[in-house]
Amino acid sequence: MNKEIVISATDLVKAYRRGSEEVRAVDGISFEAGPGELTAIIGPSGSGKTTLLNMIGCLDNPTSGTLRVGGAQIFGGRRELSETELTRIRREMFGYVFQKFYLIPTLTVEENIMLPGAFYRSPAAKSPHEVMRLLGIERRARHLPGELSGGEMQRVAIARALINGPKVVLADEPTGSLDSRRTGEIKEILRDLSGQGITVVMVTHNLELARSADRVLEIRDGKIHG
Ligand SMILES: Nc1ncnc2c1ncn2[C@@H]1O[C@H](COP(=O)(O)OP(=O)(O)O)[C@@H](O)[C@H]1O
Ligand SMILES: [Mg+2]
Repeated sequence: MNKEIVISATDLVKAYRRGSEEVRAVDGISFEAGPGELTAIIGPSGSGKTTLLNMIGCLDNPTSGTLRVGGAQIFGGRRELSETELTRIRREMFGYVFQKFYLIPTLTVEENIMLPGAFYRSPAAKSPHEVMRLLGIERRARHLPGELSGGEMQRVAIARALINGPKVVLADEPTGSLDSRRTGEIKEILRDLSGQGITVVMVTHNLELARSADRVLEIRDGKIHG
């Protein structure tokens, strides 16, 4: 059977020049993820986790290697994608969640969530109410981010990531700023998303979060370990 693959990365490399030496932040990583699969990327600080996640999310281009997302060749194909095509893929395929939430302090919860949809409406776009209900934050719709707890802020950030109906959610240390109870809540939310068929790839230092994943990629010095 031909298993459906959402993300397929082959031999991804990201190299930087540091003076005269070349530093390989990501040094030949391959991995695949199907619909609804939850992958955790773990590893020490500086091992290349963020660089890998950014390449998977088409936010950063690899030095070499290939990346396919939803069957489309993104990097390493015969033809380079235009910036317009890349932008469309970022908007339609991905929802991004970061450790530092990046909410706009002068906009309400609902306005923050609507923001990506204000620039672009994906065919799969959801309503702000739908995603707020999903994340249990409807009561906070008219509040400002400064009035929320850290756990609520991260739920707003996840709601915002879902507004365009992504197939893939990428989260870089989503619980890095949260206590253990809030971490547990975010873990359940990410599991729910994967239960709905969304492919989730998260970077985490949290063992509980990593244990909830279908697959764990341990990275050391830019390579998959073990
Ligand atoms: N823009 C950059 N220029 C040069 N080196 C970088 C750049 N981004 C990351 N690196 C280096 O790549 C390595 C991996 O970084 P990163 O992916 O952020 O690691 P992690 O997320 O696992 O902490 C580190 O050594 C870092 O210093
Ligand atoms: Mg990082």
